Amino acid sequence: MTIAKWINFSSIDDSRGSLIAIEANKTIPFEIKRIYYLYGNKDNVTRGMHAHKNLTQVIISISGSCKISLDNGHTKENVLLKNPDRGILVENFIWREMSDFSANCVLLVLASELYDESDYIRDYNLFKKFVEHD
Ligand code: TYD
Repeated sequence: MTIAKWINFSSIDDSRGSLIAIEANKTIPFEIKRIYYLYGNKDNVTRGMHAHKNLTQVIISISGSCKISLDNGHTKENVLLKNPDRGILVENFIWREMSDFSANCVLLVLASELYDESDYIRDYNLFKKFVEHD
C-alpha cells in the first residue's frame, strides 16, 4: 500500500501564465479550516516530526522543492514536493518530516481543523504505540 496520496490540480494556462484554483470539498476532500505556509527555511533543517490524531492536510510546494517523508508506523515513503500543480494528502496518524528545502521553497498547507496543540503527537515512540495494532 502506498502512503503518498497525490491530488493533481488542473491549471488554467494561457499566454500570461498559469492559475490553479482549489475548492474545499471539491478539489480537496474536506472543509478547509486553516491555511498556513512555511518559507525562508534554513539550510539543513528538518520540520514536521510529528503526527496528528485528528487532522487531514494537503501540502503543496507552490515554489521550489523539498523532501517529505511519510511514515505510517510500518512503512516509510520519501517523496519530492516540487510541483505547484499537485499536493500530497496527509491523513491522521502519519508521521511526517520535511527536509532538503530549496532556498525558494514555499510550502502551502491546507488543514481540516484549527490549530490545536493537543492534537499533535510529537514523540515518535508514542506515535508507534498509537499505530502498533493497525
Ligand atoms: P511546528 O508544529 O513546530 O511546525 P512544523 O511542524 O512545520 O515544523 O510549529 C511551529 C510553531 O508554530 C509552534 O510553536 C506551533 C505554532 N503554530 C501555530 O501557532 N499555528 C499553526 O497553525 C501551526 C501549524 C503552528
